[in-house]
Amino acid sequence: MSYSQHLFDLHGKTALITGASSGLGERFARTLSDAGARVIVSARSIKKLQALAAELGNAVAIQLDVSRKEAVLEAFAELEKTGEKIDICINNAGFAANTPIFQEDNDGEFESMIQTNLMGVWYVTKSAAIHMKRHDIRGSIINIGSVNGEGVPDKDGAAYSVSKAAVIHLTKTLVGELSPYKIRINCISPGWFKTPMNSPSIEKQIRPFIPLGSIAEPSDLDGIILYLASHNASKYVTGACFTVDGGISWGGKPEQ
Ligand SMILES: NC(=O)c1ccc[n+]([C@@H]2O[C@H](COP(=O)([O-])OP(=O)(O)OC[C@H]3O[C@@H](n4cnc5c(N)ncnc54)[C@H](OP(=O)(O)O)[C@@H]3O)[C@@H](O)[C@H]2O)c1
Repeated sequence: MSYSQHLFDLHGKTALITGASSGLGERFARTLSDAGARVIVSARSIKKLQALAAELGNAVAIQLDVSRKEAVLEAFAELEKTGEKIDICINNAGFAANTPIFQEDNDGEFESMIQTNLMGVWYVTKSAAIHMKRHDIRGSIINIGSVNGEGVPDKDGAAYSVSKAAVIHLTKTLVGELSPYKIRINCISPGWFKTPMNSPSIEKQIRPFIPLGSIAEPSDLDGIILYLASHNASKYVTGACFTVDGGISWGGKPEQ
């Protein structure tokens, strides 16, 4: 194996990925599996996960609603019981919905986005950190934020932006507590990606504002996810947030 292959080799490692039934999470599972990792794919849609796990091999599917604390605790208890050792934990599960302030009756939507996008990350990170500490694993926790959490405007999207800003801040805040156990925690803030989360019509609206000229494919995160997952590649990196957005955070309208 060449040195560059060694940097990104994940044989012998196990990765838990939340929200792996679709979009970015499914892509992360494929990428880490291709690099040799055993992957534990989780989400609510168990049939999709089972099909993915069967296709990947060296993979296991678990049904997990990250918004439910009890479900997260049970899932980790089960993983402990079956002897899984989690080296990499990707907090990717999340959803976006508009919460316009002058619309009545959307408090539930706001609460539910915070519950999934923020509390879900907290519950899973907490369980993963306890697991890594208990087994003396120099683990890597990777949170999926968003450029909307970094100030890129999201019209009518207060709850989503706030939930992602909190995820980014949570990532930075936990460095002090996790570093003594050599557990690293980092974040990726994607811009606009072609996944079921975004309607196809979004591309036409957003494209003029993207300096690099197009919305991204899920594969555009392959490099950064491998980098952060691999201890060999990124063992000195923690508390960082990587923006992968084709330049949209620059904030202007580029010349066409
Ligand atoms: N696409 C983008 O442009 C973009 C940009 C910035 C950030 N992001 C972030 O990237 C992540 C993935 O988004 P995506 O674009 O891949 O969207 P997606 O295709 O809609 O996938 C979302 C995933 O999250 C899972 N999920 C939702 N609620 C869940 C819950 N309560 N418990 C467990 N799993 C849950 C869904 O699975 P089930 O329905 O089966 O549970 C699905 O697998 C999200 O956190 C999103 O905010 C996306």
